[in-house]
Amino acid sequence: MQSIENKILLIGFMGAGKSSFLRKLQRNGANYHFVDLDQEILKGKGLSHLGELIESVGWGPFRQMEYDFLKDMMNSGDNLVIALGGGAFNENNQKLLEKGTTIWLNTPFDICFNRIKESIERPLVKLSREELQKLFNERVLQYKKCKYILNLEQIEQINSLKDLFSHIGPT
Ligand code: S3P
Repeated sequence: MQSIENKILLIGFMGAGKSSFLRKLQRNGANYHFVDLDQEILKGKGLSHLGELIESVGWGPFRQMEYDFLKDMMNSGDNLVIALGGGAFNENNQKLLEKGTTIWLNTPFDICFNRIKESIERPLVKLSREELQKLFNERVLQYKKCKYILNLEQIEQINSLKDLFSHIGPT
């Protein structure tokens, strides 16, 4: 456990299960703090609704907030497990992301779509299924660059940080 990098980054499309995976990892998560990037942004801005934030400031400023908050987290001395928003794994953040252990939750599109289609928190859900599928396909090209990839079965099997470490081993 000691040799694993001290920033573990959970990556994946909306609905991939990053936030619930984060909650599972908290079991036996001694020495680590568990944070959700979107929630940290909201807390930092004193807001409660991410969709409203994005719609009021626009995508450019929101992506900048993701960068700024992620940068602070990556530069902190804490051991962190961070769940990123589905669009935060991008070129702009690449240098920051390289400092961590990136793990892609590779949940198939149909499952992601069924989980998010009624979401009111996510402005992108206004896109059609076809548009979301296209975005998914584009994002997958980025997500594939993650250091580790977990398929759905593995995501379901892993129930704690300890389980995750035994899956991915020391880095
Ligand atoms: C986004 C995903 C959302 C949130 C925002 C934008 C995206 O996070 O950051 O609505 O661009 O894919 P989740 O992946 O946690 O839903």
